[in-house]
Amino acid sequence: MKKFYITTPIYYVNDVPHIGHAYTTIAADVLARWKRLSGQPTFFLTGTDEHGAKIAQVAEAAKISPQQLVDQVSRKFSDLWTTLTISNDDFIRTSEERHVKVVQAIFETLKKKGDIYKGFYEDWYCLSDETYFSEADLVDKKCPQCGRDVNKLKEESYFFKLSKYEKPLLDFYAAHPAFLSPKNRANEIINFVKSGLRDLSVSRSRVKWGVPVPSDPAHVVYVWFDALINYVTAAGFKAERGSSKPDFADLWPADVHLVGKEIFRFHAVIWPAMLMALELPLPLKVFAHGWWTVEGTKMSKSLGNVVDPHTMVAEYGVDPFRYFLFREVPFGSDGDFSEKSLLGRYNSELANNLGNLVQRSVTILVKNFDGVIPVTSHTSVLMGDGKAWVAGIRRDFEALAFGDVLESAFSLMIKTNKFIDEKAPWKLGIDQKKELAQVLVECVAVLKVLSVVLSPFMPTKMQELWVGLGEKGLIEQEGGALLAALEREPAFSISFEAGQTVKKGDPLFMRKGGRWK
Ligand code: MSP
Repeated sequence: MKKFYITTPIYYVNDVPHIGHAYTTIAADVLARWKRLSGQPTFFLTGTDEHGAKIAQVAEAAKISPQQLVDQVSRKFSDLWTTLTISNDDFIRTSEERHVKVVQAIFETLKKKGDIYKGFYEDWYCLSDETYFSEADLVDKKCPQCGRDVNKLKEESYFFKLSKYEKPLLDFYAAHPAFLSPKNRANEIINFVKSGLRDLSVSRSRVKWGVPVPSDPAHVVYVWFDALINYVTAAGFKAERGSSKPDFADLWPADVHLVGKEIFRFHAVIWPAMLMALELPLPLKVFAHGWWTVEGTKMSKSLGNVVDPHTMVAEYGVDPFRYFLFREVPFGSDGDFSEKSLLGRYNSELANNLGNLVQRSVTILVKNFDGVIPVTSHTSVLMGDGKAWVAGIRRDFEALAFGDVLESAFSLMIKTNKFIDEKAPWKLGIDQKKELAQVLVECVAVLKVLSVVLSPFMPTKMQELWVGLGEKGLIEQEGGALLAALEREPAFSISFEAGQTVKKGDPLFMRKGGRWK
């Protein structure tokens, strides 16, 4: 069965990971977890991009071999993904043999086909971005992307016939309106293609650290051409029979490539053209998200304002950090990161709202009912039409509108806290036990639904909550059925086992004073 195949960019290993990298990977993780929750077999790929002149340069400066450098830095990425509870199914490194073989095979196939040919290339080259720019692209004679110096370079090079795919690409965009996402970024790509595509230089004779062209080893494959291929390598393209790799037909085409806006063009123009040349199906969607600045300024090493995800996790915990990234800014838009805002949301939304709701419900249940949920079946009044509510959540998740999912969850949370304030169950006497039971079950029912909906964002804390509510098993395996049932019937009753007992534990989120002040 075809799996839902989701990818992140593969990250350059010339530098250590920061929140920008963490953002894309967590977004992919949220989507992958949502898909699994919905019962869809899913394959989630991330990895590292390890070739190119820049890497060789950094290795030389550190007096180690490029291979040593890429091993060290790639490890920093995979370790960070473990810290951030990323549930990727594979981690691809472009220096791995499985990948090198596929890049070489693809290069030779396209060369034979005539879609790759030899010529000369001359233009302005940015070493940092490993990209050539035409004179017109330069900004104040500097690299339009990073602002660094560029040099005029001429070299013998192989070219990919990108120009041949101008019309097929435009036809494809027109026939597949969901391909370029979000919609507000589509025109930029369409206009770029309409303005005419130049053939793309896809080999370098100056660079040594890369995949050699088998039929002409003086050349190595251009790092972007090499990197984009990772998506099919990991899916098992051209894999030997009997290998442990996935079956290509089960994964390809990718359902969504998640990328930052600055590499949208590579994924929305060059990659689909390469796939057309290979006569492979195209991905269903390329989604470009925005960029984070930090307290209003572009993140940069020289400014010393690069945010290290490890620091945020150490201070606020993994789940609040993951939550914040999608709560603060609509996914797709640019946003500004500030620790003050993270602390604010942590305290007001997680500690005071969600944490308090849990604490109050559980405490009163323990006090009055020995923690036993007094009713085995309950239709939430606060959710309103549960069917419509869950359908909205599903629609937002599927559209990658993660901020809207969180907004719906948060407003339900607020409503429930208001409800508990109004009903003041702590004032209800022993003779009003029935009413007390109704109030508490409403809260517990809402919390059960919220724990499921929020679990893709906060997997560890929501599992803790799930267990705290007396539920059994893993939320990622059990939760989907609840949502599906709610979606089938508008007034579906949320059920609890007879004798199901909530557990009074430590607060889910402790209020923080904050080291920032
Ligand atoms: N190696 C290429 C991608 C090849 S994919 C076939 C690359 N690597 S990168 O290390 O520079 O990572 C780029 C990605 O990191 C961006 O696309 C984006 O997903 C993420 N971000 C890097 N800085 C970012 C911000 N300041 N804000 C948000 N995301 C950013 O490009």
